Amino acid sequence: MKKTLLTFAALLTLTSTASARTWDEIKKSGTIKIATEGAFPPFNVLNGKKLSGFEVDLANALAKQMNLKVNWVTAPFDGLLIGLQQGRYDFVIASHGITPERAKAVDFSHPHYCTGGTVVSKMGGPKTADDLNGKKVAVQVGTTYLENVQKLPGVKAVVFPKDTDAQTALMMGRADAWVGDKFTGLDLIKAQKGKLQQGDMLYSEKIAMAVKKGNSSLLKELNAELAKAQSNGAYAKISNQYFKQDIRCK
Ligand code: ARG
Repeated sequence: MKKTLLTFAALLTLTSTASARTWDEIKKSGTIKIATEGAFPPFNVLNGKKLSGFEVDLANALAKQMNLKVNWVTAPFDGLLIGLQQGRYDFVIASHGITPERAKAVDFSHPHYCTGGTVVSKMGGPKTADDLNGKKVAVQVGTTYLENVQKLPGVKAVVFPKDTDAQTALMMGRADAWVGDKFTGLDLIKAQKGKLQQGDMLYSEKIAMAVKKGNSSLLKELNAELAKAQSNGAYAKISNQYFKQDIRCK
C-alpha cells in the first residue's frame, strides 16, 4: 500500500471520536449541518459569504424536503472527510467520487451525479493518456484526478490545494495539462475562449454524499430524499440550471 493511503486511513481511525447524530436527533434539532469545499465551480462555490452551485442547491432542496434548516460549513477539500469522522457536521457534499479507499473510512449515499476525469490543455498540448507521458499535469490534492494520473507512466503531477489553482497553473504555463472534472473542464474551455482544448476522459466516476461510517439512519434518509428529488422534478430543475442537461447517473 502507498504511504499516503496509510496516512489517510490512520488519521481517520485516530480522529474517529465523536459519535455522529442519528437522523432522529437531527430531525428533533430542526437543523442539519452540511459541509462542502466552496471552491469547485459549478458544483460548490463560496463568493464572499454566499454559497452556490449545483451541490449547494441540491442539498438545500433535500433539506427543504426534510423540513430542516441548513447550517453550511466550508473546509479545504482534503480535510472534509476527516472532519466528518470527527463529528463536525452531519454529511459532506463536495463531489467525492466513490472509491474503495474512501468507502473504508465513510459511508456513501446513492450517487447524486455521474461524471469523469478529463484532460484539458492549451491548443496543441496533450490530449490523451499517452500524450501525458513526460508531461506536467496540474491536479487538486486529495482527488481521484491525482490518484488516476499517478497511475499513468511518466506523468509529473503538480498538486494544488484547490482545483481553481490547478486551472491557473495550466493558464500560466506552469503545467502542460490539467486533469479535472468533465463539466468543470467544459466551463473552463468556454471561459478561456479559443485558448484551450478538450482532451480524453481518462475514467468515469460516481459522485456521492458521505456520512460518518455507520450512520445508517441518516444515510437511509438522504437516499430517500435524493430519490424523491429525482422523481418530483426538483433535481432535474437544478441540474438543467447549471448544466443544461440532467447529470444524474443513468
Ligand atoms: N471528483 C473528484 C474526486 O472525487 C474531485 C472532487 C473535488 N471536489 C472539490 N470540492 N474540490 O476526488
